[in-house]
Amino acid sequence: MTGATHARRVFSGVQPTGGLTLGNYLGAVKRFVAIQEDEAWETLYCIVDLHAITASWPGREGMRRATREMAAAFIACGLDPARSILFNQSQVPAHAELAWIFNCVARMGWLNRMTQFKEKAGKDREAASVGLFAYPNLMAADILVYHATHVPVGEDQKQHLELARDIAQKFNNDFDAPDFFPLPEPMIEGAATRVMSLRDGTKKMSKSDPSDMSRINLTDDADTIALKIRKAKTDPDPLPDSPEGLEGRPEARNLVNIYAALADRSPAEVLAEFAGQPFSAFKPRLAELTVATITPISARMRELLAGPEEIDRILSEGAARAAAIAGPILARTHEIIGFIRSR
Ligand code: TYM
Repeated sequence: MTGATHARRVFSGVQPTGGLTLGNYLGAVKRFVAIQEDEAWETLYCIVDLHAITASWPGREGMRRATREMAAAFIACGLDPARSILFNQSQVPAHAELAWIFNCVARMGWLNRMTQFKEKAGKDREAASVGLFAYPNLMAADILVYHATHVPVGEDQKQHLELARDIAQKFNNDFDAPDFFPLPEPMIEGAATRVMSLRDGTKKMSKSDPSDMSRINLTDDADTIALKIRKAKTDPDPLPDSPEGLEGRPEARNLVNIYAALADRSPAEVLAEFAGQPFSAFKPRLAELTVATITPISARMRELLAGPEEIDRILSEGAARAAAIAGPILARTHEIIGFIRSR
């Protein structure tokens, strides 16, 4: 009855909060672009504005600016709106509608275990929004409303993806619809699945870190990037000759991984080149490579942001294409549950 056939369909999302970091770029967007280049995949990339209001609101204008900046960043990084479906989440109501159904499938106990909720809610959980708690259900809906089969993300989203698989499975069981929702596969690959803070190699590089020196933003200019890398925390030893030598040296490992991901090389290859050299020799080369990658992206972003109407048009067109895929899947979901709908 449900007999879903699943294409190789990729979905991923990024929150429009405070611009893209090098972590988002290497862990996610650079890979989105690489996947788009492969014709075998259908790709949907979403600016998840509904998720962005779970913790705070940047104001009406701030919200619009952040969404357009994220769209411009995607396009400047190489996402082609003709090949990939690029849109903002709130323009496709099917996400929120399926999320409600998933609120009734996921268990409180499952959500209570989410480490990201614990981190973001901090000590005062009573004051966290219900949206922040139910955030992973909306994320599962984002993916499953397209029957997406693969989800490229950084390491920090792994637990949320496992939950999405649990929700898919439980829906299929509870509503007697074997195989209706596919179990989406995480794609967590490459040297940069977890880019760390430049100030503390045990903490993730994040838009929300209070110190701007901890991260590289795609909008940073060449001098700022060079300064941040020069000041990045390291240890006094020279670089080892193999990745095993990075054990217990989180800051060194992070810089090597960043270099490898930017250069499309493996950490072993990078170390083969820099073995025995001090950070004073490695850091300028890393800065050069980072600037060479980011400067053209930020220049293109500025050009795109000069024409916000064109960005809005691209997002609306993407939303219409996305809605055309999601609509029939949501309709089938309603039929499976037994909701009456007029035809
Ligand atoms: P967000 O907006 O925090 O991050 C977007 C993407 O960037 C990755 N990322 C990193 N990768 C490596 N190193 C880092 N330091 C780093 N920081 C962030 C994230 O893993 C992510 O892939 N919940 C998601 C957004 C979302 C989503 C979805 C993702 C909503 N619905 C459906 C996939 C599918 C989030 O907050 O990502």
